[in-house]
Amino acid sequence: MTEITAVRGFKDILPDQTQIWRLVEDKARDLARRFGYLELRVPILERTELFARGIGDTTDIVEKEMYTMEDRSGDKITLRPEATAGMVRAVLENNLAEGGRPLRLFCLGPMFRYERPQKGRQRQFHQLDVEVFGDPGPYIDAEVICLLSSFLTELGLTEVSVLLNSLGCPKCRPLYREKLTAFLRARQADLCPDCLSRLERNPLRILDCKVESCQALTADGPDMAECLCPECQAHLAGVTRALADLGLPYALSSRLVRGLDYYARTTFEIHSGRLGAQSAMAGGGRYDGLCRQLGGPDLPGIGFAVGLERVILALTQVKEFAFPGPDYYLAALAPETLGPAFVLAHKLRARGLAVEADWEAGSLKSRLKRADRLRAAKVIMLGPDELARNEVTIRDLATKEQITRSLSDLDKF
Ligand code: HAM
Repeated sequence: MTEITAVRGFKDILPDQTQIWRLVEDKARDLARRFGYLELRVPILERTELFARGIGDTTDIVEKEMYTMEDRSGDKITLRPEATAGMVRAVLENNLAEGGRPLRLFCLGPMFRYERPQKGRQRQFHQLDVEVFGDPGPYIDAEVICLLSSFLTELGLTEVSVLLNSLGCPKCRPLYREKLTAFLRARQADLCPDCLSRLERNPLRILDCKVESCQALTADGPDMAECLCPECQAHLAGVTRALADLGLPYALSSRLVRGLDYYARTTFEIHSGRLGAQSAMAGGGRYDGLCRQLGGPDLPGIGFAVGLERVILALTQVKEFAFPGPDYYLAALAPETLGPAFVLAHKLRARGLAVEADWEAGSLKSRLKRADRLRAAKVIMLGPDELARNEVTIRDLATKEQITRSLSDLDKF
């Protein structure tokens, strides 16, 4: 029979990798604690309509990348391609934003997009997603960018660049949209078929097109920065001032439109030179109209998501990881010491120590080799002689020092 393999674009995270994942997730939780963000766990499945309405009908994600199906009662459901829409739904549905104070939340978990798999791009991938509701001011934009930057730099990823833009608001964006559409209409013969269909429906998406000829064509297009209304200009200036006060470097990029339609004003991305073609490690922005679009009140929001596969990919290039093994490897050196060794392992584990053992007796040499491979700190040896004296020998694998301990003195281990 043929072996069953994983679904294309879905990857196992193997035990030698999960320790790195834990370290990254622990750093995320630690930063969330320090910045005052609480964890919200939203479902992996949502109604398809949530993403169609939230992310935008004409985005690549909704048009081409969602895992959508009908459940047994005929409802259309989708594996979440991102967390923001689900977080907004959960905040509104559970009235979490009541009380007038900004609500700071984060979520960690898998997302699903039917994209062409390649280095740094999978169909199931993981994000740390951070969202703040109820604060319209520029300081909170700078705060989430600072949180993201601290997450990466504290992990050891310092060679990253922050790109920042403002997409304007419903007041000033139509002017830009008009200018861009006029510019592109005059050159529509050179647009790829996808962009041609985007031209009337959602021209800003064309700035995000991956096709080189479209990118070259839009390079000389109108500049968003020149169309911002005074309020949007002031907001952007507030964000850049706050980032400058922190000494956090950034570059303004007026072409940064992002792949989701819910953004207004601030958008940002963090890129790394270590990731090849998929250089975006994180992205986010402000989505002041999204709550309303999803049936809620006018509740401003801002957030970002960072791709954990990409973080780990970059991290393993700059750092060697060697995680400590168990406190003890327990070696039963003869069949008659297996039983007492089994009980001893349980007693030590019950006291909180990490103890590994194999439940077969073996030679000292083979046991020491195994302890080495497991990177155990110490080996407990239990042979017939030790057992007769109600003792064990403990060898420190780093110093090679050996001591004996009575089996009755568990607290001395
Ligand atoms: P996004 O830019 O679509 O934003 O995704 C954020 C990050 O997720 C990307 O920068 C990348 O690191 C990672 N990512 C995306 N797709 C893949 C993939 N196929 N394979 C591996 N990694 C991937 C969002 O998802 C927004 N929800 C961010 C946000 C939160 N905006 C406001 N709040």
